[in-house]
Amino acid sequence: MATESFVLKVLDVVEETADAHSIVFEVPEDLQEQFGYTPGQFLTVAVPSEQTGLAARCYSLSSAPHSGRHQITVKRTVDGYASNWICDNLREGDTLRVLPPSGIFTPRDIESDLLLFAGGSGITPIMSITRTALEKGHGKVVLFYANRDESSVIFARELAEMAGEYADRLVVVHWLESVQGLPTQEQLLSFASYFSSYTAFVCGPAPYMKAVSDSLKELGFPRDRRHQEKFVSLGGNPFGDVEEMQAAAQTLADADDHEDDDEQPIAGPIAVEVELDGEQFSFDDWQGDKVLLEFLEEKGVDAPFSCREGNCSACACVVLEGEVKLKHNEVLDADDLADGIRLVCQSLPASEKLKITYNG
Ligand SMILES: Cc1cc2nc3c(=O)[nH]c(=O)nc-3n(C[C@H](O)[C@H](O)[C@H](O)COP(=O)(O)OP(=O)(O)OC[C@H]3O[C@@H](n4cnc5c(N)ncnc54)[C@H](O)[C@@H]3O)c2cc1C
Ligand code: FES
Repeated sequence: MATESFVLKVLDVVEETADAHSIVFEVPEDLQEQFGYTPGQFLTVAVPSEQTGLAARCYSLSSAPHSGRHQITVKRTVDGYASNWICDNLREGDTLRVLPPSGIFTPRDIESDLLLFAGGSGITPIMSITRTALEKGHGKVVLFYANRDESSVIFARELAEMAGEYADRLVVVHWLESVQGLPTQEQLLSFASYFSSYTAFVCGPAPYMKAVSDSLKELGFPRDRRHQEKFVSLGGNPFGDVEEMQAAAQTLADADDHEDDDEQPIAGPIAVEVELDGEQFSFDDWQGDKVLLEFLEEKGVDAPFSCREGNCSACACVVLEGEVKLKHNEVLDADDLADGIRLVCQSLPASEKLKITYNG
């Protein structure tokens, strides 16, 4: 069940740079299927805390799925709690509670030519995508990788090795702030303009992502060839039981943070059709008093989720018919919303009938 957490053993800890550690988990044979992942997806880990019991944080897998490895890479955040705890404390043989992989920052077609933009720790999902595309696909990969200085470049050696091994398919451009300053939108646009038929993925600090994203839009990259992943910390606890999370969701509902004021929730009952992992589900009694994720869980549907807060996109679906009202949304941008993407953990009914798919 996607709702269950698992205790995984740390197989190895690799010091990638002075402030970034990779953690390799041992995934036992009976959990292999559950922990299957696509490049670009993330794990959610429960970092122990004396203050709150635990702090839940998402970390992208930097390994490639076909390697059989489950490796996350954590960079210290200045004054951050969980990232520093992991880098300071986690050692080989330790254990950590982990939720199975999720997320939508993943190429639909690994054969596509890829234009990848990474900044700092944003290299993590991009590394998984790069490794997979080179080793499992046949397309070209261009990586623009921005960092503060040479010592902060995570995976510098592997990238150099890959660029040698796949010289006809991989180009890596390192951009160092210490040498060139921050990349401007004009520079990013000029770079991207050489690869305007590629599929783009971007992950890094917010201003960098915005500059890349605006450049891609200006160059006419269609929505289905522009993908971005935001790194934010979860405020709640997806490791708790459902009642606890429902209470947290209710608190959120009570807060005045409505994201799309055009849509108003309706009372129900609503007819809902759901397509998930090749299965179809139909219900006719979704009431307006609970979010769609909660309703599906009550019906026994193994719907994906992680944060339950509108922060991570693990629960993202595409609305095929009808509409929902999102209570809170930290991850979907205007283009995602225009494409019908919605967060099931934040969805309240806004039409008499709703049809969604998780296969979009
Ligand atoms: C999809 C996704 C993928 C991500 N992938 C990566 C990745 O690959 N690599 C990476 O480095 N980051 C990644 N991140 C970011 C990561 O999840 C964290 O946001 C980041 O590590 C910063 O967390 P932090 O706790 O160190 O810092 P902060 O979240 O800034 O820490 C401060 C917070 O911790 C709380 N806090 C302080 N002390 C305590 C305590 N004792 N107990 C409990 N709480 C406390 C404070 O209230 C405050 O809210 C990803 C995020 C997302 C959403
Ligand atoms: S579960 Fe994280 S956004 Fe819905």
